[in-house]
Amino acid sequence: MNAVAVIGLGYWGPNLVRNLHQVAGPRLRVVCDRDPMRLQAIARQYPWLETTPRAEEVFARRDVSAVVIATPVSTHFPLARAAIQSGKSVLVEKPLTTSSAQAEELIELAYRRSVVLMVDHVFVFSPAVQKIRQLVAAGQLGPIRFVDSVRINLGLVQSDVNVLWDLAPHDLSIVDYVLDRFPESVAAYGKAHVLPGIEDVAYLTLDYGGGLVANFHLNWLSPVKIRYTIFGGSQRSIVYNDLDPVEKVKVYSSGLSVQQLGAEDRRRVLVDYRTGDVWAPHLEKVEPLRQVVEHFLHCVDSGETPVTDGLAALRVVRILEAAQQSLRRDGQRVELGVRFSSDSAVPENTPAARPPAEKLPQEA
Ligand SMILES: NC(=O)c1ccc[n+]([C@@H]2O[C@H](COP(=O)([O-])OP(=O)(O)OC[C@H]3O[C@@H](n4cnc5c(N)ncnc54)[C@H](O)[C@@H]3O)[C@@H](O)[C@H]2O)c1
Repeated sequence: MNAVAVIGLGYWGPNLVRNLHQVAGPRLRVVCDRDPMRLQAIARQYPWLETTPRAEEVFARRDVSAVVIATPVSTHFPLARAAIQSGKSVLVEKPLTTSSAQAEELIELAYRRSVVLMVDHVFVFSPAVQKIRQLVAAGQLGPIRFVDSVRINLGLVQSDVNVLWDLAPHDLSIVDYVLDRFPESVAAYGKAHVLPGIEDVAYLTLDYGGGLVANFHLNWLSPVKIRYTIFGGSQRSIVYNDLDPVEKVKVYSSGLSVQQLGAEDRRRVLVDYRTGDVWAPHLEKVEPLRQVVEHFLHCVDSGETPVTDGLAALRVVRILEAAQQSLRRDGQRVELGVRFSSDSAVPENTPAARPPAEKLPQEA
């Protein structure tokens, strides 16, 4: 009755299967991929799992109550909609959909069918990002002035989405979770070199108003892999290097302040550089994807709203959609024009939804 199925066993799906096997044991019962080679590869590793090449067979099963979808981005919406329509809770890979209209439809459908809709914004479940959120919320950095992020490597070039839709969901979900703010406008600039019309290099800028600006470099063609995000505050800054095995998060007390020496001459200023301590907080050693599947199953069993629910997914898709418009207009600024009320995080024009969980279980 409460069995779990995974659809899509390409590059990422087997990681979900491995974690579900560890967390859910025999509750993981069915795997599905339309490519028989992928099915065989998983069946060799987990011979007790039932296999099918047809997603409809998964949706028709009465023993399956939850479905994990790890297929290409363009297929998320039809598969998630069919799963929800047949009464299943869904965990969908990022980004949830390719348009905000589709995301809104899934949110409304899941609400009506009383099933869980969760998106795999996996970095939200990483101890590093949770620590950064705690430090920012505690006011350790002072007001945040900028976010600067580089996410580049020789990437798995996708044929259905560009580098923005592939990589930026990670950064956008991180800043959404850490800053708890929605940007006012977006600008994106990019170029396609490998596949026509599919940008493989992109630069994305979010303007939050009040001086806070965030910039993201996204690139599938870089010979080196870099995963760096800096949160710059007026008091302290955080440097987050996801590839550092030991000290992923470092807090810097360095900064500068400027003193105006004379009101009559604006060029006469005194710059005071502050080079302070650097410290690296202790981080738990857990695989974020394991936390994702644990949280999903917990929400399925308890009816709780996931931290990365449909609304969190919609916020990311809204920004991607606006960024895509900007990309087509050669980097022109696009206003987001959506007000998310500060206490509920529900955009005004979104169908009613259950209130989001305030905190991750391990923070409670
Ligand atoms: N969270 C992360 O860090 C992370 C990392 C990589 C990929 N992803 C996401 O995972 C998803 C899959 O990416 P990937 O790189 O594994 O893609 P992939 O192309 O390697 O694998 C997709 C698989 O889905 C199967 N498939 C496609 N349509 C199907 C259908 N209708 N029914 C059954 N099977 C179907 C394909 O045969 C293929 O085996 C994407 O949404 C991607 O954004 C997430």
